[in-house]
Amino acid sequence: MHSPRGSFTSRFGATVAVGGSVVGLGNIWRFPYIAGENGGAAFIVVYILMSLMIAVPIMLSELSIGRQARRNLHGAMERLAPGRFWRFTGTMGIVTALVIVSFYCVVAGWALGFLGRSVANGFAGQTPAEIAGGLKLFIDSGWRPVMWMSVFLLLTSGIVWFGVEKGIERFNKILMPLLVLMLVALGVNSLFLEGFREGMTFVLKPDLSKIDGGVVFQALGQAFFSLSIGMGAMTVYGSYVKEGESLPRIAATVAVFDVCIAVLSGMAIFPAVFTFGIDPTSGPELVFMTLPNIFRQMPGGYWISIAFFAILFMAAITSSVSLVEAIVVWLKEEFRMTRRRALAMTTGTVFLLGSLCALSQVDGSRLIVGGMNIFDLFDKTSSSVLMPLGALLIVLFAGWVMDKAMLRTQLTSGESYARRLFGPLRLMIKWVCPVVIALLFLNQIGLI
Ligand code: TRP
Repeated sequence: MHSPRGSFTSRFGATVAVGGSVVGLGNIWRFPYIAGENGGAAFIVVYILMSLMIAVPIMLSELSIGRQARRNLHGAMERLAPGRFWRFTGTMGIVTALVIVSFYCVVAGWALGFLGRSVANGFAGQTPAEIAGGLKLFIDSGWRPVMWMSVFLLLTSGIVWFGVEKGIERFNKILMPLLVLMLVALGVNSLFLEGFREGMTFVLKPDLSKIDGGVVFQALGQAFFSLSIGMGAMTVYGSYVKEGESLPRIAATVAVFDVCIAVLSGMAIFPAVFTFGIDPTSGPELVFMTLPNIFRQMPGGYWISIAFFAILFMAAITSSVSLVEAIVVWLKEEFRMTRRRALAMTTGTVFLLGSLCALSQVDGSRLIVGGMNIFDLFDKTSSSVLMPLGALLIVLFAGWVMDKAMLRTQLTSGESYARRLFGPLRLMIKWVCPVVIALLFLNQIGLI
């Protein structure tokens, strides 16, 4: 996002960088809680389909737009279709980034708070129920979530300030394998839990009668959130990918990886959910009620819990850095602000919105809009309104507005077999994705 534009050094480098943005709290915190609320396995099947069939073509549209124009989404749309209204898709993407980063910092703050508590061995000697209630007490204090959210935000802004994205590419190469290793260890540990069978049945045995429009829509929103699409983040990454690299390969690899991490996280969490008598529909708190319970009974749990929350925090910060950076670059390029000023404004705004999110969760808080606290409102509207709408505009742009020859060059470069892929991919981008998103939208607002 700096000028002169940098570029990723290799396909592996590009894949890892995109992976770092994509893998985060979405996989480990949001996926299990949304899956739990929507009945488990049936939701997971739809989510996997949505990620691979619908989200991948959208990601490819974003990457193609970005690599063709070598700009952020707003500027890219302006460059590829001058004078039209399309660039407002880019503006909306920035609003989406702001909404997401505000609640994202709150959850990452929980991870930091729990890291602190793990170091202090604060979960020792508590009953499973006490541990499960720990996050609620933490939230209800009011100042704790705000304090840890602020710490996380300052760390994020610090990284953006020093601009160590190039370092983050290297850092991700170590972080991602560690995260996978950790989840595998937790998965193996759940083999020995009393609730193993019940948990695995919940994750793996779909009850297809549970699928309705609402479940499919939630799955779509989760796929978008987890793959960072529908807001222009991938456009910026696309603009860093070299001409000869194959975009379909990068997108497919990242999507498969992202889905695997989410499902692994589900397999680690749900056996414990049933073992410790936690309600799978507990909502955003689910994972934080469950994890400390897992660590407490595990051999070496003290260290594992420290390592886990540290890795979760790092996975979150690689995502929040790119969200903040996107907002900063937009302010800088579209409003001719200095980088320092743009960063200060962004940090200040996120601090205010994030504090509102955190305080709205306190018991008896009056920060309620339409029956939802502000945290839930931000979390739900980003994935059920802002991202689907952004994604819809992006695929329509790539399929109908962008020059066909340009799209073909972007999607087929680097690989001769990709030429045969172009026809079906374009069909997905032009027709299938927009129709699916539009139908689900209309279904949600009750028109179908
Ligand atoms: N995908 C990220 C996660 O799973 C969250 C996210 C959504 C994101 N949109 C983004 C991260 C844009 C970076 C850029 O945690």
